[in-house]
Amino acid sequence: MSEQSKKVEIKPAGGRLGILTPGMGAVSTTFIAGVLAVRKGLGLPIGSLTQMGTIRLGKRTEKRFPRIKEFVPLADLDNLSFGGWDIFEEDAYESAVKAGVLEKQLLDQLKPELQAIKPYPGVFERKYVKKLDGPYVKQYTTKWDAAQMVMADIQQFIEQNKLDRVVMVWCGSTEIYLKPEPVHQSLDAFEQGLKENHPAIAPSMIYAYAALKMGVPYANGAPNLTVDIPALYELAKETHTPIAGKDFKTGQTMMKTILAPGLKARLLGLQGWFSTNILGNRDGEVLDDPESFKTKEESKLSVLEYILQPDLYPELYKNFYHKVRINYYPPRGDNKEGWDNIDIFGWLGYPMQIKIDFLCRDSILAAPIVLDLALFMDLAKRAGFSGIQEWLSFYFKSPMHHPDLYPEHDLFIQLMKLKNTLRFMMGEEQITHLGADYYEYYK
Ligand SMILES: NC(=O)c1ccc[n+]([C@@H]2O[C@H](COP(=O)([O-])OP(=O)(O)OC[C@H]3O[C@@H](n4cnc5c(N)ncnc54)[C@H](O)[C@@H]3O)[C@@H](O)[C@H]2O)c1
Repeated sequence: MSEQSKKVEIKPAGGRLGILTPGMGAVSTTFIAGVLAVRKGLGLPIGSLTQMGTIRLGKRTEKRFPRIKEFVPLADLDNLSFGGWDIFEEDAYESAVKAGVLEKQLLDQLKPELQAIKPYPGVFERKYVKKLDGPYVKQYTTKWDAAQMVMADIQQFIEQNKLDRVVMVWCGSTEIYLKPEPVHQSLDAFEQGLKENHPAIAPSMIYAYAALKMGVPYANGAPNLTVDIPALYELAKETHTPIAGKDFKTGQTMMKTILAPGLKARLLGLQGWFSTNILGNRDGEVLDDPESFKTKEESKLSVLEYILQPDLYPELYKNFYHKVRINYYPPRGDNKEGWDNIDIFGWLGYPMQIKIDFLCRDSILAAPIVLDLALFMDLAKRAGFSGIQEWLSFYFKSPMHHPDLYPEHDLFIQLMKLKNTLRFMMGEEQITHLGADYYEYYK
């Protein structure tokens, strides 16, 4: 894509958009109930760029700062329908009450709408999420059959809700760590693998395959490999479908990608960064299994390496010690506490310390991300974008990227990239922040 300012042709956002989430636990139900609450005027969509963010256009003297949702054609919250899959049969109301994130008093005001949202039975195998077992699962002989069943569910969801478009956002549990294998390298090999029940094809990949096959954009909220494999890049290209991932950037990693760019900007050195968390929700329980934690750990660790570039700044960042821990501690539920101890050094090597104690709410931070991803993935599809949507790195701990590029983790660069992509779509000039023409100092 060239960077000239010529408007991209974007299909209109009218009609109804369906949002499907494999996994209808804490994040998914906090997102769904939140959108319903916003629609009824019971709360504000805080944390959502699509709903509350603005974008500067043109020169600073022009004072043009439209809301993003007024600048690009996005689906309206009133035109969204929700659905999903889970391995427990509870409807969205019961699941939200159980998750304990939003107050029951608020959920009761949304009860009929939430009760009407019932999951389809999940595609699930316990070997991919060891700490979880549920009764509400599809029965199939091959993974190929399972994919056909997911496609039938999507079709039914479209018909029942009279939808014009659908997107899928993975909100299911974190699966065990999988490495790319030959079966992931081409679409042919992958389809063969589906038919032969290849063990390197996890349930999340089956949902992703079904979605992409039907041209449904797929965003991955967990660190699972899922759609980050050549076979599914190929399918995404073939069906002109956007894909994005991995792992919603909330809590501690969000703080890291805010703080680390600041330390680097001021050329302050880093000796070590120790991060630990306690959380007591089901996600925490799943991550208590070493194989699921390994997937999460990989996703969390790479952030600092890429931001700090130790190869370019060996005196400041070579060999810094980085540790990330997640501890399952049931009393806290969804209200995580994350501690960071950061050992830095400044002028002449004098040491200093920073301590962070973030008492956050995991699903409260993740819900607006699900909304933005759903709306932006739908926009991308209507704009004719396909394959990896690197401009949505802003939302991910471990952003998917072209194999020849390194990922961009700095939250502020990610935001600039996102907004410049929106400007590009709408034929507005890119903003470089040079600003020299206000001063004429080069004349
Ligand atoms: N909350 C955050 O801040 C945050 C940040 C980054 C990533 N995530 C990821 O988002 C995901 C959801 O988090 P959560 O807090 O909602 O967890 P949760 O445990 O409350 O919900 C996950 C749901 O997925 C279901 N599930 C698991 N495997 C499934 C399958 N194969 N098919 C259908 N359903 C399946 C589970 O039964 C559960 O209801 C997790 O993978 C988590 O790691 C969350």
